[in-house]
Amino acid sequence: MVAQLLGLAFLFLQCTCTEATSTTYVKINHNWEVVYQDTSVYGVVGKAVILECGATLPDMYIWSFTKPGTEAIKAVVYNLGKGTRIQKLAETLGKITIISNSAAVSIENLPVAAHGLFTCQAFYDIELEPKVYYYYVHLTVRIPITRPFLLMSDASPVEGSTMWMRCNLENGTGPIQYVWQHETRGGNITTFAHSNTSVINVTNVNRNHSGWYRCVASNAVNSESSNRLLLETIFGPDIPQIDVSPYTITERGYSAVERETVSLLCQAQSNPASQYVWFHNNSQVYAGPHYTITKIFRMHTGDYACLAQNTYLNTRSKKSISLTVYYPPDGSPSCSVEPTLNHTSLRLLCSWSGGFPSPNLHWTGDLHRVAQNESDTGQQSYPLTNTAILLRSEDLNSNNSLFTCVGSHIALKQSLECSTRSYIPPAEPVCFAYITNNRKYLLLSCSWDGGTPKALVWWEGPGGQGNGGEENSNILILRYGTAQGGIPYTCHARHPLLAQTKTCRLTLEAPVLLTQRKVVSVYEGSDVQLTCNLRANYLPVSEITWFNNQGVDVRDTSKYRLQRTSAWANLTVRDTHENQDSGEYRCSTSNAVGGTEINVTLVVKRHPMPPNVTLVKVEYNGRQRNEVELEWLVESEEESGWTGFILEHRWMSEQPGRRGGSNDSKEETKSKIGPLVWYQNIIQDPEVRRQTVGRLTPTETYQFRITPVNHRTVGHPSSAKSPAEPSSNVLPAVIGAAFGGMLLAAFLTLLLLIFIIRNRNNNPRLHDLLFGLHHSQSRENINFPEDEVVAGSEGGIEEIGGSASSGPTMALPRASSPLTTTPVPPPGDDNEPVNVTITVQAIGS
Ligand SMILES: *[C@@H]1O[C@H](CO)[C@@H](O)[C@H](O)[C@H]1NC(C)=O
Ligand SMILES: *[C@@H]1O[C@H](CO)[C@@H](O)[C@H](O)[C@H]1NC(C)=O
Ligand SMILES: *[C@@H]1O[C@H](CO)[C@@H](O)[C@H](O)[C@H]1NC(C)=O
Ligand SMILES: *[C@@H]1O[C@H](CO)[C@@H](O)[C@H](O)[C@H]1NC(C)=O
Ligand SMILES: *[C@@H]1O[C@H](CO)[C@@H](O)[C@H](O)[C@H]1NC(C)=O
Ligand SMILES: *[C@@H]1O[C@H](CO)[C@@H](O)[C@H](O)[C@H]1NC(C)=O
Ligand SMILES: *[C@@H]1O[C@H](CO)[C@@H](O)[C@H](O)[C@H]1NC(C)=O
Ligand SMILES: *[C@@H]1O[C@H](CO)[C@@H](O)[C@H](O)[C@H]1NC(C)=O
Ligand SMILES: *[C@@H]1O[C@H](CO)[C@@H](O)[C@H](O)[C@H]1NC(C)=O
Repeated sequence: MVAQLLGLAFLFLQCTCTEATSTTYVKINHNWEVVYQDTSVYGVVGKAVILECGATLPDMYIWSFTKPGTEAIKAVVYNLGKGTRIQKLAETLGKITIISNSAAVSIENLPVAAHGLFTCQAFYDIELEPKVYYYYVHLTVRIPITRPFLLMSDASPVEGSTMWMRCNLENGTGPIQYVWQHETRGGNITTFAHSNTSVINVTNVNRNHSGWYRCVASNAVNSESSNRLLLETIFGPDIPQIDVSPYTITERGYSAVERETVSLLCQAQSNPASQYVWFHNNSQVYAGPHYTITKIFRMHTGDYACLAQNTYLNTRSKKSISLTVYYPPDGSPSCSVEPTLNHTSLRLLCSWSGGFPSPNLHWTGDLHRVAQNESDTGQQSYPLTNTAILLRSEDLNSNNSLFTCVGSHIALKQSLECSTRSYIPPAEPVCFAYITNNRKYLLLSCSWDGGTPKALVWWEGPGGQGNGGEENSNILILRYGTAQGGIPYTCHARHPLLAQTKTCRLTLEAPVLLTQRKVVSVYEGSDVQLTCNLRANYLPVSEITWFNNQGVDVRDTSKYRLQRTSAWANLTVRDTHENQDSGEYRCSTSNAVGGTEINVTLVVKRHPMPPNVTLVKVEYNGRQRNEVELEWLVESEEESGWTGFILEHRWMSEQPGRRGGSNDSKEETKSKIGPLVWYQNIIQDPEVRRQTVGRLTPTETYQFRITPVNHRTVGHPSSAKSPAEPSSNVLPAVIGAAFGGMLLAAFLTLLLLIFIIRNRNNNPRLHDLLFGLHHSQSRENINFPEDEVVAGSEGGIEEIGGSASSGPTMALPRASSPLTTTPVPPPGDDNEPVNVTITVQAIGS
């Protein structure tokens, strides 16, 4: 029966082999059908597992095992009602025990070999209606994962290269999941990759891949983490980064102010770390990342390059910056003001050069409403080494304006400034004229000094004569003789602070000469002064020249005295002589626009004859016959036309070598008249009527005569008389007379001296004669001919036959050439004098 059942069971088992693959179960129905049930059980190597076989204990059961990959079904343990019987095979499947009161099998210390299909054939109700169940238990034996270890193809890959990482493990049932973890240096752990394979490729390795790696392998049993491996990417250097401090950047690059401390820091990412070298204008200046210039100067301006090197890779990179050192201009700004636009405007200039960058300059001050137009035109945003502004006269109403230019520079804490002033010349323009020494040119000078800036001065004359503007003063040069008379030459002067132009004018006129008298008459022997003067204050005229009656240019000699200034010339003719000095004298001058001359007629007259004189008494005053008393009479006493007498005596027989008697107080002169010599005693007193002549030779016969004199005019001599014998009763009288005569002579002499002293101004000749003085400056006392006397005239100069006009005589100008001589029209000619006076006018406006 059991055999039958077993055979049947084996049969079914054989059948289920094919059926098992289809995992269906067959239920034995009441008509003897077998029931099949499938379960899966998972176990882990070394652990325990329980394989169930129905919920209740069957009457009989057989556990079998089919090794995967084989078809053979082999019994492991059975119980056919007579106790459990464990087969040898069970030893290879771990430590198998049957759980009591059940058909379940417990396997401890599960080996890998237990992996396979366990089949429990269970038989129930054998006695009544037997039921057969087949329980298929699929036991999976899993192996836990051993600790994996990580491998890298290259722990120091170069950036950009490709590498792999392998997660190696010895045992572990698949499927296995791999996770790679990345731990940065900062300790941040991230999952780097997942994979179901143990190897991952990392393409294009970069620096972010550096750090610690581990891998974690996981299967259904467990999960294990590997060791930690460090990956260091080799890279760089990157393009360096340069930090400049203090940080000032402009469109030109970095900038620093002179004397600052400037530090340059270079950083370039690199592994291993970079080596740094600094270059200034391509020459190496420093090695190391941090280059500090403690006191920077303008020469430090230039390009700074940082070279970073990765010595491991032998790669390098470089970066340059440009650094400009700012420095202020020297000194302070300088200001100036200058005229512009033909002196109608002011230009203010401010300059301050030398610094870098250029300083900022701007004008302040008395600018009023003036726009800074030149610098407003778009340039103001840029610094300028100089700045200029334009101010028009119309906008400037104040004299003495102050303008200030303020300059500022980045490198200076404080701004600096300069100032300039502008003012109008204090006075009015001044015009004057002069001629060159060689009389080739006439120069018209105009000046307007003292302003800031200088004024512009120019001349405008008639007929286009003029010149261009010059500063401060201007001289118009005219060829002598080309100047035009009568029309003004105008000097214009313009200053930028004044809207109006100032002027001064010169009108050139030919000179006009005047004289006090056209005709001058004097008595012979006197000095006479002829005058000649310019009517007005003329422009430069040539020297006033006198020509004498011979037409000869007069010099200062003993004969002539020439006194002159620019305005007049007086000619004194000394010791006039009737024939030699009478005549036409001419005074002449000229200037650039004409000449003139004036004639003065000098009439030298002899003095009139003195009245006749008669000797009324010629007598010896004693018997000794050595003294003669003389008395005389002037025929017409009422006249005063004599100045003295010449008392003469002579011997009647010629006695050469002998001298006649002389009087102590009288000078004795000798002259030869006729065959006999007259000895002369000069009596200079016109009042004397008597004279005693002594020291005569008693034995001689004398003749006496007396002659009146009037200056140089000698009158008729009286008839000569011989002295009469004294009367007989005259002795006492003679003695008395002699005494009286002596007294008289002494008295007369005293009188004469007093007279001479008192009248020495009027009678210099006599005075000179007595006192030996010469060259008196005084004029001779001159008697006038009665028909020509002008009452009240003193000094002996009078006008004779001149023009009736009471004013000074005027000479008429000649034609413009000073060389042509045109006769002077006679005085009184009613030719209207041409008004050619050169007057100098300065007309300010
Ligand atoms: C891996 O499994 C084999 C066979 O089961 C075993 O011999 C070996 O010791 C295991 N290795 C480890 C590290 O567990
Ligand atoms: C770690 O990495 C994650 C993702 O990259 C980031 O969000 C986190 O802030 C990081 N933490 C630290 C401490 O770096
Ligand atoms: C990794 O790279 C190797 C070699 O190039 C290749 O054979 C392999 O298939 C790659 N593995 C993966 C997961 O891409
Ligand atoms: C590395 O990581 C930083 C920040 O996460 C990122 O900005 C940078 O682009 C990464 N570099 C590369 C080469 O991927
Ligand atoms: C460096 O170069 C700059 C610009 O080319 C130049 O201005 C500067 O003078 C140079 N400096 C030196 C020290 O050569
Ligand atoms: C300057 O001004 C003067 C006087 O107004 C004029 O004659 C001259 O032509 C001007 N010059 C110029 C260049 O404008
Ligand atoms: C202008 O100012 C200056 C300086 O103060 C002075 O000398 C001059 O007289 C002034 N001129 C006029 C026209 O006021
Ligand atoms: C010369 O004459 C002028 C008048 O024509 C007179 O005013 C002046 O004083 C005179 N000079 C001398 C030194 O006599
Ligand atoms: C003066 O005397 C002279 C000669 O002796 C004589 O010719 C003349 O007529 C006299 N004159 C008078 C006015 O008597």
